[in-house]
Amino acid sequence: MVKAVVLGAAGGIGQPLSLLLKASPLVDELALYDVVNSPGVAADLSHISSPAKVTGYLPKDDGLQNTLEGANVVVIPAGIPRKPGMTRDDLFKINAGIVRDLITGVAKYCPKAFILIISNPVNSTVPIAAEILKKHNVFDPSRLFGVTTLDVVRASTFVAEIVGEKDSRNIVVPVVGGHSGDTIVPLLSLTKPSVSIPADKHDGLVNRIQYGGDEVVKAKDGAGSATLSMAFAGYRFAESVIKAVRGEKGIVEPSYVYLPGVPGGDEIAKAVGVDFFAVPVELGPNGVAKATNPLGSINEDEKKLLEVAIKGLKTNIDKGVEFASAEP
Ligand code: NAI
Repeated sequence: MVKAVVLGAAGGIGQPLSLLLKASPLVDELALYDVVNSPGVAADLSHISSPAKVTGYLPKDDGLQNTLEGANVVVIPAGIPRKPGMTRDDLFKINAGIVRDLITGVAKYCPKAFILIISNPVNSTVPIAAEILKKHNVFDPSRLFGVTTLDVVRASTFVAEIVGEKDSRNIVVPVVGGHSGDTIVPLLSLTKPSVSIPADKHDGLVNRIQYGGDEVVKAKDGAGSATLSMAFAGYRFAESVIKAVRGEKGIVEPSYVYLPGVPGGDEIAKAVGVDFFAVPVELGPNGVAKATNPLGSINEDEKKLLEVAIKGLKTNIDKGVEFASAEP
């Protein structure tokens, strides 16, 4: 039995993500939580002819507890999105507190669930989640994921456009580091199958992968950031976690994880000098089965990008840890 939960289910990401989870034959129960409109979204989705039983809760009447009890997979897209001119870090003030409160609920009501954090700034909200889980003595690093799948989805799409591949799913680009601007490091030299990017397009491509989110923020002109592509990416990651739990082998997805606590991660953490970092992760029945290290064979350009990313990540991680440590 798989019970999936979406926290922030009535939002721009939450609604299409909940739709994809409801449509999935892999989900038996779907519980939706938000501060507004979640019962409405649940009622709407419940008419879809698929196996998942859908419920929707608001904070009143122990809504968070009812949502989370028995959950296996908790996806969190709750919080405010960017407007033009904002960085993901500008969201910290509001979203840090939202993630803290929701993770406190997870720690109390479903401490063994896989936790997928979408709320930005992911570079800081995942360290906040880790600290809160530690405070409740339930932190299992193999079960806590920052969702960076959208960066990988964008990288595949943009590379495919340049090399003329019709189906971008055939192109896999490892993207490592964090999830904002120059902390996002696409390793184009390790693209599979290998591709040749014309020299005059290389820097523009890297920049587009790092700042692709800004294209959407600008185009939406004040109405938010990526929601539909994020729902696609978030669902892809959730589906991969569920498939791995059900015993499927060889599933690799990139994710922003606490490296020192996951198999294979310690060595990478030492190499990069930060504890939270996105790498391609092999998933298994208990979450992270192995963090893989693609950094051994990267080129000089990528090493420079990595240096910049690590600097930014350190600041973002410290900010998250400090915030959570200051909490009682
Ligand atoms: P939205 O504003 O459309 O939806 C957010 C939802 O969260 C709203 O329905 C709101 O009522 C709900 N919410 C607020 N406080 C809550 C609480 N305490 N408990 C439960 N629900 C609460 O925003 P959108 O566009 O769905 O984005 C959500 C988050 O996802 C933002 O932080 C955004 O920056 C982030 N994001 C992350 C991406 C990634 O790649 N990881 C990509 C795109 C967005």
